[in-house]
Amino acid sequence: MFRSAIRRSLRRPAIVQPPLLKTKTAARTVTSSTPRPTELKPGTFARTDPSIEVQYPEEHEIPSSKPVRRFKRTLSSFSLEGKTAIVTGGARGLGYVMTQALVESGADVAIVDLNGEEAAAAAKRLYDHHEADPESPAAKITSHTCDVSSVESVSAVFKEILAQHSNKVDILVTSAGFCENFPAEDYPPERLQKLWEVNVNGTYFCSTELAKHLKARGAPGSVVMIGSMSGAIVNVPQPQAPYNASKAAVRHLASSFAVEWAPHGIRVNCISPGYMLTDLTKKILEDRPDLKTKWNSLIPQGKMGVPADLMGAVVFLASDAAQYVTGAELRVDGGYTAT
Ligand SMILES: NC(=O)c1ccc[n+]([C@@H]2O[C@H](COP(=O)([O-])OP(=O)(O)OC[C@H]3O[C@@H](n4cnc5c(N)ncnc54)[C@H](O)[C@@H]3O)[C@@H](O)[C@H]2O)c1
Repeated sequence: MFRSAIRRSLRRPAIVQPPLLKTKTAARTVTSSTPRPTELKPGTFARTDPSIEVQYPEEHEIPSSKPVRRFKRTLSSFSLEGKTAIVTGGARGLGYVMTQALVESGADVAIVDLNGEEAAAAAKRLYDHHEADPESPAAKITSHTCDVSSVESVSAVFKEILAQHSNKVDILVTSAGFCENFPAEDYPPERLQKLWEVNVNGTYFCSTELAKHLKARGAPGSVVMIGSMSGAIVNVPQPQAPYNASKAAVRHLASSFAVEWAPHGIRVNCISPGYMLTDLTKKILEDRPDLKTKWNSLIPQGKMGVPADLMGAVVFLASDAAQYVTGAELRVDGGYTAT
């Protein structure tokens, strides 16, 4: 705080007019009994001169500094403060970026992934990033190893998460999933089964586990399933019939659970991304540059999406801003499925 008459010692060269001398309202005295230096020399300002007294202006005469706003204003209903979310497949790719969006919006998050080491590294990276930012205090971010295709593994990981998050989870984002390409008649049956187990059963097991928890708490909640535009269209030219069918199943699971759990205040929606540039798709496109040209030519916006394009969609569906939205599919595909 400034006081009305603060005495400070300073030494100014005569050829430099102190800025305060030009302030017409400034009530202060500047006196000097010693000759002023006539030229600037190294160290001129680094010495004190007790003969110089400066009386500072009254507090009301000093303009206050403008507050800095870090965030742009938005509806508070989009905030996830006080909520806890689980993100499956959150160690990398789309799941990791959606985790960032939830943390940025104030949620505590449990990252669940088959690759426990990568999940732990992702959680640490996110935590450190927020811890380093004084304006954005770190949320609680935990990591957990789980195979979502195993009902036992899912049940165990929910217990672990609840124990670490004060027995309270409100949001689930199911991003664990994968895609493989084989001509339909050559698709290895064991791969077909694995794909179904992860993409469909995994989504089923995690959603029902959350529903059990929310019903027991008598609390509302939100499930955001990650489907794909492939659940509505057939991608060309790559052959991936089982993946397309699995994502159609995810979309319809969302609608079915939405109806079944609506009386309990549990909303269930599906985000269906189009072609997104993740590390995975980047690698595919490096091997097949012709595919990128083909895909881009089919997208009205003329380019693939980036994972950050899903951030707003997931926060919206997870938040109270979407309170009356359930059983919906939100396509984030640059217009692909509109054609
Ligand atoms: N990338 C795209 O263009 C795109 C487009 C539409 C939909 N999707 C869907 O988005 C989701 C994420 O895709 P991505 O591109 O980020 O993939 P990704 O391979 O980068 O990430 C998937 C994550 O899921 C985890 N995972 C896989 N099997 C698991 C299991 N059994 N249990 C727990 N975790 C498991 C992986 O370890 C990985 O961390 C998938 O469901 C995918 O089908 C992706």
